[in-house]
Amino acid sequence: MNYWQQRTIYLTYTNPIARIPGPEITKWTNWYTQYQLIKGTRPRWIHNLHQIYGPLVRIGPNEIDFSDVNAAREIHKVGAGYLKSGWYRKLGYQGSETLFSTTNPRFHAERRRLLSGPISEQNLLKMEPIINQRIYMTIARIEEEISNMGAADIFKWWTFMATDVIGELSFGESFRMLELGKKTQYITDLQNVSRLMALRSIFPFIEIVSKILPLSVFKQATEAGARIRNYADQSIKRYKRIIDQNHIDPKPTLFTKLYNPGRDGKEGLTDQEIVREAVGYIAAGSDTTAVTLTYLIFGVCINPEVQKKLVAEVANLPDNLQHKDVQDLPYLNAVLNETLRLYPATPSPLPRVTPPQGAELSGHHIPGGTIVSSQAFTLHRNEYAFPNAEKFQPERWFNPSREMKDAFLPFGGGSRVCIGMHLAKIEIRMGAALFFKKFPNAHMSTRNGMTLEEMNPLMYFMATPRGMRCLVEGN
Ligand code: HEM
Repeated sequence: MNYWQQRTIYLTYTNPIARIPGPEITKWTNWYTQYQLIKGTRPRWIHNLHQIYGPLVRIGPNEIDFSDVNAAREIHKVGAGYLKSGWYRKLGYQGSETLFSTTNPRFHAERRRLLSGPISEQNLLKMEPIINQRIYMTIARIEEEISNMGAADIFKWWTFMATDVIGELSFGESFRMLELGKKTQYITDLQNVSRLMALRSIFPFIEIVSKILPLSVFKQATEAGARIRNYADQSIKRYKRIIDQNHIDPKPTLFTKLYNPGRDGKEGLTDQEIVREAVGYIAAGSDTTAVTLTYLIFGVCINPEVQKKLVAEVANLPDNLQHKDVQDLPYLNAVLNETLRLYPATPSPLPRVTPPQGAELSGHHIPGGTIVSSQAFTLHRNEYAFPNAEKFQPERWFNPSREMKDAFLPFGGGSRVCIGMHLAKIEIRMGAALFFKKFPNAHMSTRNGMTLEEMNPLMYFMATPRGMRCLVEGN
């Protein structure tokens, strides 16, 4: 029997995964799943498969997705031994390791230990003036655009804001997107990053292939990646020059304490490592925050009752409000959670590998080395935890049940939970409170052919509004 015959028999009969329900084609190949990824439809496709096949669905010859909340919790439990799958390594530039992309638990623990202090809730308090300055400027720019054009593209402005914030916190200098006020090549590149990640995960050698095959989709994606890295490189060099010259005390950044490792026994990272982590922060932190804020405004504007309550809550806040004024507002936080639930910026499967001894999940024995995942898009639509799951109902978060908390994974979970979630929440709470204080009558615009259909998300690894814009009017 030749290799192909043996492989066919294995995939059809012997492979334990073959018995798990799922589309017939996924016994043989995962290309159809990858096709859905490039189209930006994978989470919805997997969600539909769960409606047909139940709580566990085979999505590739060695890959299963779970909609079962207990399985999702187990997969993301600290110490349960489910490591990130090799898919993440393909996201890093030519296999380089970062906090986000590493699959090595030791590397991860060490890197996380170094990076988590500077981005902790406590430390971010020191950086609040920098963050606030950008958020206030964003509201001013939105106001200007509404008064000049009748409507503002809030997706554009939130993207500028989130990029400027993470740029300034990483490099000590913002990208000045807000001042410029128009999409630069850099912003277009960032918006292409999600697509680049999807492509690179399927074609890991995309950078090399693009040199041989002049396909514009490859070319665009790789050029975008190169420009982002180059920008980070230049910025870090500039910042480091300031530190090395030592006559100016630079603004503290998320990396300041990590420069120049080895000097006086100091722990830290090399310049190249800092560049990679900074690029990782920009890619993971700017679009996700902007998309969440955009869908928050959208979700509120298309639900007048919700808007009335939120506007009432923020109306009497002081004009120079700070994060401490909004941090514990009950309705604002309920709206934030409901946005993260119904419009998760990362709706996709988060693939992990079962430990060598295998695992019991959803009443099935899953062999060691199997790729297992669950996705926020489906978990957040679990009707048992979230009745009327398709409805935007912030009130459901006033007294969240155990089931709701368990099924809620907008920032991932366990040791790989999002490191930037405190920063994201500060930006989102401040942005939303200031927006509805300034524009209590905000509503979706129909100018320039804008339709609600455009807000139907495209979902690569991250989600983004299909129309790449969200026009809102102020009165
Ligand atoms: C609303 C905004 C955000 C959402 C929805 C979000 C979502 C997520 C999710 C779901 C994960 C887990 C990914 C996985 O397990 O595969 C994650 C991890 C991560 N996020 Fe975020 N994120 C947001 C904002 C940010 C920000 C602002 C930053 C940057 C400072 C950031 C940096 C990271 C990093 C570095 C990781 C990897 C952490 C690790 O593996 O230890 N994220 N994020």
